[in-house]
Amino acid sequence: MRERVVIKWGGGLITEKDTMKTVRKEVLDTLANQLEACLSEGIDVVLVHGAGSFGHLKAKEFRLAEGRQPASTVPSTMSQDEAVKAVRNDMQELNHFVIEALTKYDVSAVCLPPHLWAHNTGADFQGDLTLFESAPKGIVMVTHGDVVDCDPPEEFGILSGDDLVYRLATELSGVQRLVFAMGGVEGVLTGPPTGDDDASKLIETLHKHDAFKGEHLEQLDVTGGIGLKVERGFQTAAHGISVHLVSGEIDGRVRDACLGDDVRGTTLVP
Ligand code: IPE
Repeated sequence: MRERVVIKWGGGLITEKDTMKTVRKEVLDTLANQLEACLSEGIDVVLVHGAGSFGHLKAKEFRLAEGRQPASTVPSTMSQDEAVKAVRNDMQELNHFVIEALTKYDVSAVCLPPHLWAHNTGADFQGDLTLFESAPKGIVMVTHGDVVDCDPPEEFGILSGDDLVYRLATELSGVQRLVFAMGGVEGVLTGPPTGDDDASKLIETLHKHDAFKGEHLEQLDVTGGIGLKVERGFQTAAHGISVHLVSGEIDGRVRDACLGDDVRGTTLVP
């Protein structure tokens, strides 16, 4: 059986996180190039991408992660139902940039947006993952964080790409590795990135009970930040899958991590 790798391109990597709907095209290009290199080495790839400024800002403003809320508690410019549609459209727009970058490197990809096939949020969301198994050889299956329908009383909520990668990595056949490509950091740091090297050092090997202080920008982020990645990463590693968090901005680190080569970053040890 061919090796398979699940990759998450973080939203903070592929977009300018605090500027509404701003894509980092040059970053997408280098990531697509690295993904193509993995395919050429004979590895199958399942790609999940985050939302960054195409998801979090509007979702935060209209309280979409909290489910249905009284109309009086959200801005009057849009109803929550309109905001659900708007964020789904914005995510599709971001996904077009992703597919465009892949196409530039001759990678054929098919996207399955979660709002079409997944229900409820968190690690136990419902959805038929076998759709990802059935990709024709050489086709990369892509999905992303999204607003999905939920059981009442929430009615809708945010399904994070971090939950998607955990389920895909542990339920698809032949997955060897899960790689998180991150923006602004080289992996998991001992403290929030401040520019002070002593306060925020890279943790090269992170054990389950090691302490680290992740930065979680609650103002911006409606999902779980680095804490959720690490938690889902350890759940994945418990299944014998190797899990790496690396910079998506430096050299070919994402490619090297996907190929199983030694690379600077954080490896999770269950
Ligand atoms: C969030 O997905 C989805 C929306 C806000 C619509 P992720 O949790 O995977 O996104 P990033 O990587 O943090 O941007």
